[in-house]
Amino acid sequence: MLIPEASNFKYLDISFGVSLVGLLFQKNSSHNLETLILDGQYHLTLDQEDLIDSGKIKTLKWRDAHLHFAIYPAENKFSLMLQLFFKKLEYLEHLDMSKNSIWALPENVFRKMEYLSELHLAGNLFQSIPPQIMDLSNIKLLDFRQNLLTTLERNTRIWADSMNQKHGLSILLTDNAFECKCNNLDFIKWINKTKDNLDSRSYKCRLVNGTLITVQEAYERMHDLFSHCESSIWLTVASTLLSTCFITALLLFTYYSKRWKIC
Ligand SMILES: *[C@@H]1O[C@H](CO)[C@@H](O)[C@H](O)[C@H]1NC(C)=O
Repeated sequence: MLIPEASNFKYLDISFGVSLVGLLFQKNSSHNLETLILDGQYHLTLDQEDLIDSGKIKTLKWRDAHLHFAIYPAENKFSLMLQLFFKKLEYLEHLDMSKNSIWALPENVFRKMEYLSELHLAGNLFQSIPPQIMDLSNIKLLDFRQNLLTTLERNTRIWADSMNQKHGLSILLTDNAFECKCNNLDFIKWINKTKDNLDSRSYKCRLVNGTLITVQEAYERMHDLFSHCESSIWLTVASTLLSTCFITALLLFTYYSKRWKIC
């Protein structure tokens, strides 16, 4: 399928086609395509990279397309093609790659996407928010529902708060695999205090013994649920100190008893 030069095409939806579709943009053309919908298009080829000039595309929806076959391993032919394609989507504002079973993104995928304001990655297999999103400086909506996130890393939280301060940020996080554990208390506090616009404050989270509660409940009952956390820290500190003292004493004693020989 060739998008010819100076065509008035604005909206192209070739989702769930069964043929082997190749999509070509005429070289250096000034096409007007703004919306491209490729849902279910796993076979789609964006071959002949020098012909791909994705110009003004503002919306790209590529859901349910088994993109994990395309993204990993990063060196395969399709993956490289995809990376080139993304690199040319400089004017993209909305990107939807929901339901693709992906757990990582191509490196530097957002480096050039200065205008991206909406990113949907719901229904995938992300265990943490991919670091590439920190290249986005205009993002206003981040959708990570139905993934396998156990937490939001400290870096991500700082970045999200700064985005929110700059121009407002909504984050959708329902249906993940959050953990309410000792090493995740900062996340629990953040969820309850951040000014970012979250889709909920009561996400489900799992305690160490397997019981599901909500992050809000974990926050409210922090003292009785996580009091052992501090005591375990103190136990570690105390035992470290004790063993250090013991070893020092032993060395001193050895030195003292052998002082004449050493002299
Ligand atoms: C797990 O721990 C919580 C909090 O201590 C408790 O309320 C809950 O009953 C426990 N669940 C199981 C299955 O032991």
